[in-house]
Amino acid sequence: MTAGGNRGFDAKVAHSARVYDYWLGGKDNFEADRIAGEATIAAYPQIRSSARANRAFLARTVHFLAADQGLRQFLDIGTGLPTANNTHEVAQSVAPESRIAYVDNDPLVLSHARALLNSSPEGVTAYLDADLRDTDRILELAAGTLDFTQPVAIMLLAILHYIPDLDQARRIVARLVSAVPSGSYVTISHAASDISPEEMAEMIRRMNEHLAEGNHVGRPREVVARFFDGLDLAEPGVVKVSEWRPASELEAKAATSLWGGVGRKP
Ligand SMILES: C[S@@+](CC[C@H](N)C(=O)[O-])C[C@H]1O[C@@H](n2cnc3c(N)ncnc32)[C@H](O)[C@@H]1O
Repeated sequence: MTAGGNRGFDAKVAHSARVYDYWLGGKDNFEADRIAGEATIAAYPQIRSSARANRAFLARTVHFLAADQGLRQFLDIGTGLPTANNTHEVAQSVAPESRIAYVDNDPLVLSHARALLNSSPEGVTAYLDADLRDTDRILELAAGTLDFTQPVAIMLLAILHYIPDLDQARRIVARLVSAVPSGSYVTISHAASDISPEEMAEMIRRMNEHLAEGNHVGRPREVVARFFDGLDLAEPGVVKVSEWRPASELEAKAATSLWGGVGRKP
């Protein structure tokens, strides 16, 4: 399904999904993405560890939501290129009947969407080609897969920093929260401006020089925490993604430049 999010395919300009894939050691990237990847790694060498820590956060939060909170519906916006432990794989390993709507606006992610559509027979996965800023359209399309009268886990991992206008980012989160019932959850991870601030500022400056999407921004912890206004934050609150219920000492110590948290709609 398409909702006008697709900006057209251009291998000569770096795209965030493909640079992220490069940081993770994936193969779905082009020269422009590798140049951007290397430039950003030179500015902030821990970015690779940070990307891996973010994927580990995704796996732990989806497992927490499915196994501990009983969520069976996931709206994963800013999916990224398929990699290990995609949202539906983690959710359906706990509950095969889980329903997942993936959303991204990158044309390469769209072309790899097949790998996200290998749902368990009991569950459903769908892929929507749409832009986070077309929030109403996303909700309309996702209603084909998800039942919005039942709790939904909204996943916004490493995407809100591509909305540089803070008021717009807040409005998007508020609109999504308004569409789901009590007992729904919002999970956010977000680039930090107050972890290794100088290296991160230079990393983001270099990334923005290369990215097709234009500006992305780091934000301080208290600003990221405000995205959860009106929600009940699960312990331990908004912390470095590696410190959100880590499964091991090693996970807890992973370098990261992302804040993360999980909130429940009361
Ligand atoms: C850094 S990746 C994160 C992937 C995954 N959520 C994760 O945390 O592992 C960011 C993703 O968000 C997507 N994205 C960025 N801006 C977007 C927008 N305005 N609408 C939809 N997707 C967007 C990019 O195409 C990319 O796939």
